[in-house]
Amino acid sequence: MSNFKVSKCICHKRDFSEIKEYVEEKGYSSVEELQSDNFCSCSCGLCIPYIELMLKTGETEFEPGAYYKNIEHSTSNKKH
Ligand code: FES
Repeated sequence: MSNFKVSKCICHKRDFSEIKEYVEEKGYSSVEELQSDNFCSCSCGLCIPYIELMLKTGETEFEPGAYYKNIEHSTSNKKH
C-alpha cells in the first residue's frame, strides 16, 4: 500500500478540504455545480470521481482508486 493520498484537484490547485468548504458555503451537491463556477474539475477531470466521493462521504483524502469501491453508486441514478 502506498502512503500517497489523493487530496486535491491538481489542475485548479485546490485541496479537497477547500472544495468541501466551498460546497458547504454554496449549498452545492454536485460536481457540475462546482464546474459551472469554474472552481474545480474543469480540466483533466481525474479528480471528478474523488470529488463525487467527497460529496458523498465528507472525507477529503482518499486512497488512489478509492472510488472503485463506490463506482456503482457514483455512476448510477445521476441526473443533472
Ligand atoms: S485534477 Fe481536477 S480537473 Fe484535473
